[in-house]
Amino acid sequence: MARRHLEIDIPALGAIDRGQGGLGRQLADALRSAITKGELKAGERLPSTRVLADSLSLSRGTVTGAYEQLIAEGCLDAKAGSSTCVASGLRESAIAVRGLPGKPASPMPSLPASASRYGAIADRLTQLPSVPFSVAVPEGEVAMDEHWRRLGNRVRASQAAAPSGYADPQGLLALREAIADYLRRARAVRCGPENIIITEGTQQGLYLSSKVLLAPGDVAWAEDPAYPGLISVLEDRGARVHRVPVDTQGLDLASAIAACPDAKAAFVTPSHQYPMGMPLSMPRRLALLEWARRHGSWIVEDDYDSELRYAGQPFPAMQGLDSDRVVYLGTFSKVLAPSLRLGYAVVPERLTKAFAGARALMGRGSPSAEQHVIAAYMKEGYFETHIRRIRGIYAERRQVLMDTLRSELPELRIQPADQGMHIVAWLPEGLNDVAITSAAANTGIALRALSPMCSGNPQLSGLMLGFGGFSAGQLQDAVKRLHRVLNEFTHRTRR
Ligand SMILES: Cc1ncc(COP(=O)(O)O)c(C=O)c1O
Repeated sequence: MARRHLEIDIPALGAIDRGQGGLGRQLADALRSAITKGELKAGERLPSTRVLADSLSLSRGTVTGAYEQLIAEGCLDAKAGSSTCVASGLRESAIAVRGLPGKPASPMPSLPASASRYGAIADRLTQLPSVPFSVAVPEGEVAMDEHWRRLGNRVRASQAAAPSGYADPQGLLALREAIADYLRRARAVRCGPENIIITEGTQQGLYLSSKVLLAPGDVAWAEDPAYPGLISVLEDRGARVHRVPVDTQGLDLASAIAACPDAKAAFVTPSHQYPMGMPLSMPRRLALLEWARRHGSWIVEDDYDSELRYAGQPFPAMQGLDSDRVVYLGTFSKVLAPSLRLGYAVVPERLTKAFAGARALMGRGSPSAEQHVIAAYMKEGYFETHIRRIRGIYAERRQVLMDTLRSELPELRIQPADQGMHIVAWLPEGLNDVAITSAAANTGIALRALSPMCSGNPQLSGLMLGFGGFSAGQLQDAVKRLHRVLNEFTHRTRR
């Protein structure tokens, strides 16, 4: 008798809202909640489906469905011929775990030791908004052309590009063939499709390289200043990072050899030092390769924006000088779009299997539909036409930015560089690049400070100014805003 009105004794059933629909799901949720809260005890009988349906004015099928769901989850027991009961042992097992000796109950697990480190990386690598002077913003005139859209639709609709089973973690063969063909011609890279691993951009190429080439505790050389995404990767791998200063010829090899000759790998940006912009001179390239040969070391060549050269002939890739010890990294982020998340690693033959395995561990490979599109875009000649077109636009925009900076802000010292999508401007003494960067964010411009890219206590204070995605008018307006921010800081430091 005591449970005769069980159906109305379960407070959780009051949460059922007829206006919301999904009554079966709502009933199952309410009963589950009653069980976990202890409103219904282990072994307790539930009303028959007919009684509960009548009392809640639900169809009997709805109640039966909810019971079946909870039986399948193990919350209820139904024995043939008898009524449905709350499963025994549910709360007991939770209580037993809570009462484990020596483990006081804690409301939340404590944060893992890595949480603050990864949190800081999230801050460091979060992209800037698409306003001047953000770096890779392929919008408007420099966005992928009409061919890309049409070809994309055609290729994605074709059977070969339609979603299918797991693909080769090394990447789509047709794309690797197209990349190998392009790199042999455009960058003098020595490779075939078998040397290529498709990556989710150079960031992943750096990660794969550190995984395969380095063990925790190994020494790696990195330039000073350097791309922050590289330093985070090396630290994450547990490598001991030796920062090598750069001068007008790029990496100061002599200082690295004098201070720390036994590095397992050198991570370099030979065609366009990041962020300063100078190429690594030919004598230094040869010396770096000689060092690698003598010390049994690897070189990781990050060739991130080599396609965007505005004057003179580009240096061929270092990989072409010694394909047995250089891992070459390229990306579609700079010439197509960063959102594609596609790039490539060209890997010495001895390492291809290891890289393919490491790539398989990280998500089993890249989505194949977009790889088919890029392969067709390259094979049909559109890729190189696109590069030539955007190179012309970038060259004009770069000139506008340099001219405007020279006339409006002559106190900034511009670092000479003939390549890429950004300019480096050094600030006058006493101005702090980090403070200026955060003040500028409130005025609709996105700067990147250089001092955090340097190790130790950097003496230099400078800004990275991206120009690629912005019209002449936008760049001129942004320089005016920068001018106002700098004026304010100059007055503050004089006060
Ligand atoms: C020097 C350098 N390396 C690597 C990357 C990563 O590029 P991706 O988008 O290909 O991962 C960047 C991105 O800005 C970069 O500047």
